[in-house]
Amino acid sequence: MNVKEAITKRRSIRKFKADPVPDELILQLLESARLAPSGSNTQPWRFIVVKNPETMQRLQKASFNQRHVGQAPVIIACCADIKAFGEFPERIDELIVSGALPAKTREVFVPSLKKEGMSADIKWHLIIAAVGNTDIAIEHMVLQAVELGLGTCWVRWFDDNKVKEILEIPQNIEIIALLPVGYPDEDPPQRPRFKLEKIVYYEKYGSK
Ligand SMILES: Cc1cc2nc3c(=O)[nH]c(=O)nc-3n(C[C@H](O)[C@H](O)[C@H](O)COP(=O)(O)O)c2cc1C
Repeated sequence: MNVKEAITKRRSIRKFKADPVPDELILQLLESARLAPSGSNTQPWRFIVVKNPETMQRLQKASFNQRHVGQAPVIIACCADIKAFGEFPERIDELIVSGALPAKTREVFVPSLKKEGMSADIKWHLIIAAVGNTDIAIEHMVLQAVELGLGTCWVRWFDDNKVKEILEIPQNIEIIALLPVGYPDEDPPQRPRFKLEKIVYYEKYGSK
């Protein structure tokens, strides 16, 4: 399957077969997340693989009782470490060593990102970046799942505090999505999408 086919075939799956998902396939999903790009290679994503039926039932409850959350054989709780930017200097050094960035980046870039000297504005942008970067990793898994014959559904509608409590997630970690994973037991049609004309401009915003 090529990327275009995976993108076109993907659906949010809300009905799963009871068949277990082999650990090897879950590892393949996590590996595709690991390879996602992130700003300055901060890799802020963290994942919790949940298979315990009791925990899954609690997560379903915390997700306003969305049935597919408790019904999937596996849930991957996808989190972002919003303090990952604290390791900026190390990540920049790695990028310099790997040849992706010129050595002068260290003097130009790193001082403005030192935790002590960082403005609230920069901090806010970095938090947004941690969330956005994690979204990319999640979608890598979602598309990889299609190729493996697995179904997933982004779930963002849940009580953050309850999920944090259930999974013992510390304060500096944000839950970005719960991702139920399993073999699909439905084949939904493509859902409506805007036409390109509504979402694409040329050269300037609003210009057709
Ligand atoms: C960030 C995000 C959050 C979502 N949250 C939920 C959710 O809590 N529950 C759910 O059933 N679907 C959720 N969805 C799935 C959307 O409803 C779905 O992507 C959309 O209706 C388009 O359908 P499709 O994914 O099958 O193309 C979410 C999707 C995204 C990207």
